[in-house]
Amino acid sequence: MSEFAELSLGDKRIQLPVITGTENEKAIDIAKLRDETGYITIDSGYKNTGATKSGITFLDGELGILRYRGYSIEELADKASFLEVAYLLIYGELPTAEQYAAFEKEIRTHTIVNEDMRKIFDGFPVNAHPMGVLSAMVCAMSAFYTGEKAGSDELNIIRLLAKMPTVATWSYKKSQGHPVNYPKNSLDYCSNFLQMMFALPVEEYKVNPVVSSALNKLLILHADHEQNCSTSTVRLVGSSHASLYASISAGINALSGPLHGGANQEVIEMLEAIKADGGDTDKFIAMAKDKNSGFRLMGFGHRVYKNFDPRAKIIKKAAYEVLASLGVQDPVLDIAKKLEEAALSDPYFVQRRLYPNVDFYSGIIYRALGIPTNMFTVMFAIGRLPGWIAQWKEMRVNKEPIGRPRQVYVGATPRDYVPMEQR
Ligand code: MLT
Repeated sequence: MSEFAELSLGDKRIQLPVITGTENEKAIDIAKLRDETGYITIDSGYKNTGATKSGITFLDGELGILRYRGYSIEELADKASFLEVAYLLIYGELPTAEQYAAFEKEIRTHTIVNEDMRKIFDGFPVNAHPMGVLSAMVCAMSAFYTGEKAGSDELNIIRLLAKMPTVATWSYKKSQGHPVNYPKNSLDYCSNFLQMMFALPVEEYKVNPVVSSALNKLLILHADHEQNCSTSTVRLVGSSHASLYASISAGINALSGPLHGGANQEVIEMLEAIKADGGDTDKFIAMAKDKNSGFRLMGFGHRVYKNFDPRAKIIKKAAYEVLASLGVQDPVLDIAKKLEEAALSDPYFVQRRLYPNVDFYSGIIYRALGIPTNMFTVMFAIGRLPGWIAQWKEMRVNKEPIGRPRQVYVGATPRDYVPMEQR
């Protein structure tokens, strides 16, 4: 028998169907609410609003579960390559060896960025933030791949996956005033990114396999996270049938905020500020507990994970392995360890569930890998790209309607225009 929720409004009673997901998640379907009652719902920040039915990522915030298309994040981070996970997210199944070879080959052949596009990079100021450059360049692709050049959605998906590391590393090179490195298509996805990022004209760049494998893991951990702010932005922009590039560019902008992807950069900036102040972590822990101090611990707690962030567990282990294997000694990382210990043992943080989240450890590991701080959020964007693409595609394939929320108006009631001289 179908399940219903009953709503009574004055003397009116209506039945609202209950939807059950494959993991037994429940939702009340209010699609007919306004037509039948004249009422809408208000849910600031959409904390209780399911914007869509999706088959891509399952997340249980209470139990700390994250799965892509049914596969656990732990297993994927341990065994898969980033492009394999990208394929899984976008096409729904893990690729066979043949499918993977064809997919990877396609990506390798599209890494180059049009020379006319490269000229746009020259217009940005030297100190431009790479996230601003990245979103502008991804949006510019909608101008380059239009009309006859547009091609199919599938081709644009490949183009975007292939060119993202090129555009991302070039945005960084420009921020340094350095010449760009061109892609080397004999290298795998992560290694190619690293050479475009770090190779210098004076010597041959050798990819460190520890760094490349840590990067692979980090990208997988960030690849999708169901309907977060940037993904919802991608789906909403795409719902107007804006191009893939325009939608992803909007997602990059949403990700840039310090409350979303920008948090990993803020973590390291906070740690550096603590170091500059003398490195007294106890002082900053006390300040974090004092509401009037104006200090906020960045990288602790999460909007949807109530007990722990499963990605943080994996990344923490990887972070310590990388630090040990690269022999990194860094006072900023020592401060991070002390803050982590305090947050995991101090009842104030434990009760408030302010455990270190994925942004805390990703900041640490990126720093250990030699990735500059202003590139941290760009790294998140490269990782999140397959998730955005998969969600954009799902939204279009399912022919979802244009997103158009309502509001409750709380402004002025009708009044007469007053001529300026009488105001
Ligand atoms: C993410 O991975 O997108 C972030 O953890 C933010 C979120 O899920 O709300």
